[in-house]
Amino acid sequence: MGIKIVGAGMYLPEKVVANEDFEKIVDTSNEWIVKRTGIKKRHLSQGEYTFDMGLKAAREALKNANMDATEIDLIIVTTVTPDFYFPSMANVIQGRLGAKNAFGIDIACACAGFVYALDMAQRYIDSSDDIENVLIVSSENITKTVDYKDRSTCVLFGDGAGAVVVKKGPNKAYSYLGCDGEYADILYAHLYPSGNYFADEETNRKNKSIFPNETGRYMYMDGPAVYRLAVDFMVSSLEKACEKAGIKPADLDIIIPHQANVRIIETAIRKLSILKERVYVNIENTGNISSACIPVCLTELFKSGRLKENNRVGIVGFGAGMIYGAMVFSV
Ligand code: ACO
Repeated sequence: MGIKIVGAGMYLPEKVVANEDFEKIVDTSNEWIVKRTGIKKRHLSQGEYTFDMGLKAAREALKNANMDATEIDLIIVTTVTPDFYFPSMANVIQGRLGAKNAFGIDIACACAGFVYALDMAQRYIDSSDDIENVLIVSSENITKTVDYKDRSTCVLFGDGAGAVVVKKGPNKAYSYLGCDGEYADILYAHLYPSGNYFADEETNRKNKSIFPNETGRYMYMDGPAVYRLAVDFMVSSLEKACEKAGIKPADLDIIIPHQANVRIIETAIRKLSILKERVYVNIENTGNISSACIPVCLTELFKSGRLKENNRVGIVGFGAGMIYGAMVFSV
């Protein structure tokens, strides 16, 4: 038994910000951004809620799957930029969709979130009699963690959402997941500090990072360190997922990597000896939308007709944690 993706959907906010727009606010240039990252523009949310962007993508995925929300048994939402501490985004989306037969779970696996959710979907479907249809929603408002005075991070990110409907299918998917928390301090964004009425003033004022670099509410990223690890983690996790499937990365018809930097993707492609034409890249139009990158790519591939029945697809992600994972499946 395995899984099949039967519908996909996406949502990107209307507001588009081009590289040239950054030239007006930080010391950068279109040329630097394109050459070092591959990004030309990105969509930025204008006060839109993360759950609302996810909802739009979910509705499109259900429509493309020709299914009603009441047919969904489980909703998995991936996000590191939710709207609330509680309730979960999955609960809010379940309610707004009217998916009254579903239960919901949020997972925070940074930019690898979609890979983890697809792995979970297969495990739930495989191991239970009462879960047949799973809706995965990956939605990110990552730009709310970005300091627009920091040129080394602000040009990289965009907002958006992607969603897929997963059903029981004939082909097993193979995954390899991992993380290394020793690198938690190279990429992070803090939530509110602890504090309450009875705590001393110092505690209530405290907004100190437990990590060495203090960035307040904004993200900290050691770009070059993330870059080096990302290449290694992407290469090894895709190789290991393929090994489990009994194939080589070069046998995959389409590879969808997390869209963080086109140079990371190109270096990984070289190390994996896979054809560039088989690797899907849309970063020039979206920037890095964290866990939404892969399902947005999947939706674009389905829409363009490039994904054909029985194509073997490899997805591979990495992100803050450091967390990483790859999955190999047939469409
Ligand atoms: N415009 C112009 N110059 C810049 C900019 C910019 N936007 N950003 C940095 N620079 C400068 C730096 O200040 C530095 O200048 P200096 O030499 O005078 O000190 C120079 O460019 C080189 O800086 P590096 O950081 O070494 O540049 P690099 O080639 O490594 O590119 C980048 C930086 C794009 C951030 C790259 O390291 C990268 O992509 N890293 C990985 C990012 C990533 O994958 N993040 C994952 C996030 S996913 C998640 O979980 C949220």
